[in-house]
Amino acid sequence: MEPIIDKLGRPIRDLRISVTDRCNFRCTYCMPKEIFGDDYVFLPKNELLSFEEMERFARLFASIGVKKLRLTGGEPLMRRGLPDLIAKLTKIEGIEDIGLTTNGVLLGQYAQPLYDAGLRRLNMSLDAMDPELFGKMNGRGIKPELILKNIDRAKEIGFTIKMNMVVQKGVNESEILPMAAYFKERGITLRFIEFMDVGNDNGWSFEKVVTKKEIYEMLRAEYEMEPAEEEYYGEVAKRYRYLDNGAEVGFITSVSESFCSTCTRARLSSDGKLYTCLFASDGFDLRELIRSGLTDEELLEAITGVWQGRGDRYSDERTEQTVKNRKKINMSYIGG
Ligand code: GTP
Ligand code: 5AD
Ligand code: SF4
Ligand code: SF4
Repeated sequence: MEPIIDKLGRPIRDLRISVTDRCNFRCTYCMPKEIFGDDYVFLPKNELLSFEEMERFARLFASIGVKKLRLTGGEPLMRRGLPDLIAKLTKIEGIEDIGLTTNGVLLGQYAQPLYDAGLRRLNMSLDAMDPELFGKMNGRGIKPELILKNIDRAKEIGFTIKMNMVVQKGVNESEILPMAAYFKERGITLRFIEFMDVGNDNGWSFEKVVTKKEIYEMLRAEYEMEPAEEEYYGEVAKRYRYLDNGAEVGFITSVSESFCSTCTRARLSSDGKLYTCLFASDGFDLRELIRSGLTDEELLEAITGVWQGRGDRYSDERTEQTVKNRKKINMSYIGG
C-alpha cells in the first residue's frame, strides 16, 4: 500500500492520543493556576472517547501507515484504568512502538501494571532538581524526590525512560547543569525542550526561550559530546552522546531549528478531535462520526481526507504576529 501523504509530502507515521484533559500539576507554562483554577470546567466523561473508541481509531490509523502510538494528557495516568487501554493497543497489527508521556507522580502506583500490560517506554518530565523551584514550577508543591524515586522504580521494572525538561529564561536555567549531571550519571537521556508558544495563556515570548545553542555551549564547557544517529525518521530531538560514558542528551528545538519538514504526527484529543499540528486552531470531529455509526471504510475516508489536506508547518512560520494573533489549542488539551 502506498503511504498516505499530506500536501507537503509527509507520510503519517505517529498518532499521539490524549486520554484526558485533566492534570494533577499546574505547571506555570502549561496550566497556570489563574486560568485552570477550582472553577475550571474540564471535559465531562461522556465527551471523552472510550477505550474501545480509541482502540478502533488506533487500528484504523495503523491501517494507513501509523507505526507509533503515544499516550498523553493532561496527565494520562489521571484517566482510570489506563493499563487496560495499553493492553488493547499492544495487540494492534502494525504498531511497533507505544510510549507514554507523564509527569511521573502516579507512577509509584501504575508503573508495574503498565509494564504488565505491555508498555515499555516512558517519557517523563522534570523541570528542576531544586525542591523549591520545582514545587513552584509544577504549581502543586510536588518535590523532585518523588519523581526521582518513581524514575528509579520504573527503571528497575524495566522501562526505557527519557526525561523532558522545559527551559525558560530567568526561571530554571540554573538547573541545566545539575539535571544534565544527574541523568548522565544514570544513563538516562535528558532532552532540553525550548519553551514553546503553545496555547494562548502561557506568557510566551521569544525572550523567554533558551535555545539549543545556548544550552549546548553550557554542556560543552563541561563534557565532550558527539552527535548521535537519528533513532527514527523525523525524530523530534537532536541527540548527542557523551564521550566518556556513552549516555545521551537531546534538544527539542521547535523555536530555533524547526522540524516541520519531517513531521509525521497526527494528534487525537481526548474528546475525539483530529489535529494535524500542535499549534492548530481547530480539529476535525471524529467522535461525532464514530458515534453516528460510520463503518471503518467511511471513517478511514474521513481520516485520509484530513491528512491529505494537511499543510501545517507552524514552527517554520512562527513570527511575532502568529504568536500574538493566532488562536491555538492548549497544551494540556492536546498533550504536546
Ligand atoms: P519520542 O521521541 O518517541 O520519545 O517522543 P516525543 O519526544 O515525540 O514525545 P514527548 O511527548 O516526550 O514530547 C517531547 C516534547 O516534544 C514536548 O514538549 C512536545 O510538545 C514536543 N513535540 C513533540 N512532537 C512535536 C511536534 O510535532 N511539534 C512540536 N513543535 N513539538 C513537538
Ligand atoms: N513548551 C515546551 N514544552 C512544553 N511542555 C508543556 N508545555 C510546554 C511548552 N509551552 C512539555 C511538558 C512535557 C511535554 C509533553 O511537553 O513539560 O514534558
Ligand atoms: Fe505540567 Fe504536563 Fe500537567 Fe501541563 S500536562 S500542567 S506540562 S504536567
Ligand atoms: Fe509538526 Fe506542527 Fe510541530 Fe511543525 S509545529 S513539527 S507541523 S506539530
